[in-house]
Amino acid sequence: MKAWQLKGFGLDNLVLGEAETPRPKAGELLVKVGAVSLNFRDKAIVEGFYEPHLVPRDLIPVSDAAGTVAAVGEGVTRFRIGDRVNSHLYSRWLDGAPGPDEPAYCLGSPLPGGLAEYMVVHEQGAVRAPDSMSDEEASTLPIAALTAWYSLVDFGQLEAGQSVLVQGTGGVSVFAVQIAHAMGARVIATSSRDENLQAVMKLGASAGINYRKTPNWENEVLAITEGKGVDLTLDVAGGEGINQSIAATKAAGRIAQIGFLSGQTTQLNLMPLIFRQTTLRGIAVAPRSSFDRMNPFLDEHRIRPVIDHVYSFEQAREAFDHLSRGPFGKVVIRV
Ligand SMILES: NC(=O)c1ccc[n+]([C@@H]2O[C@H](COP(=O)([O-])OP(=O)(O)OC[C@H]3O[C@@H](n4cnc5c(N)ncnc54)[C@H](OP(=O)(O)O)[C@@H]3O)[C@@H](O)[C@H]2O)c1
Repeated sequence: MKAWQLKGFGLDNLVLGEAETPRPKAGELLVKVGAVSLNFRDKAIVEGFYEPHLVPRDLIPVSDAAGTVAAVGEGVTRFRIGDRVNSHLYSRWLDGAPGPDEPAYCLGSPLPGGLAEYMVVHEQGAVRAPDSMSDEEASTLPIAALTAWYSLVDFGQLEAGQSVLVQGTGGVSVFAVQIAHAMGARVIATSSRDENLQAVMKLGASAGINYRKTPNWENEVLAITEGKGVDLTLDVAGGEGINQSIAATKAAGRIAQIGFLSGQTTQLNLMPLIFRQTTLRGIAVAPRSSFDRMNPFLDEHRIRPVIDHVYSFEQAREAFDHLSRGPFGKVVIRV
């Protein structure tokens, strides 16, 4: 099969060639990949700053795929040839609390990903793709939509009428705007670009703050929420900004620590965290059960993934470059 493989760190070492078509073992599905979408994680893996010690040589990168079951291994019961499925990043985390070694079974590193004509997923680690979506659309769900969903619903316990802060207008945040709006919540969004703020307002955000023009954006969030702060913050920026997220979140509020766009380390100011009694929770996507619950909600609320651009298979490197420039929503590669 045709496959992109990582021969060393750096985009120049992502090479298109031939690889052996995998064979599904017992319980596994061979999926003919229709499309993949890129996440910041994929870029960080290719560039060598995401758990580089776990990245195997000749890795087929990119975790998030949608496609059609082409063959099944022995004993498969959940899917049949011809079914449309999504991959699920944490391939063994099915429900409840995560096990201690979930990252060892992630697709797109260390397990092979979907930037190839075929990929193998275990039937337990696959999810039925929404009927209402094309492969291009469905490929955007496994990390970006599911992380937003899990943070808002499973962790955040967000209710209609409550407020949520989302940062930037990348993959996770745009889904968070759409899902939170559909739940009846009030969404405050930030972006470095005024035109993106206009665009997220059209998707349901009720207020927007340009974090470049307003570096102390937490004060603006407090002003919008009558001095209280939001009920829930989805922090995708990380770095020193976590202290601002604590200030922008209400007393006894929750912060989903999702990302590290501006840094993987931080100096955390403990006194505001203690006095505001904030719950700060690391998020690592979600179990498959959460994915199973999300897809009917997306169908019911007619939520269409926001795709910035669809690239051809041969243009995979251009797609990664686009991600580095900061897309509005998702970057997709048709396979
Ligand atoms: N833990 C998990 O389960 C999980 C799951 C998914 C993603 N993540 C992490 O979450 C982060 C976002 O992922 P993604 O896939 O949504 O990324 P993405 O699609 O590449 O989004 C990038 C966007 O984030 C915004 N941004 C960049 N720096 C920012 C900052 N300092 N403050 C606020 N916004 C900023 C920019 O939006 P504007 O152009 O509008 O400024 C940029 O376009 C990454 O660190 C990723 O690794 C973690």
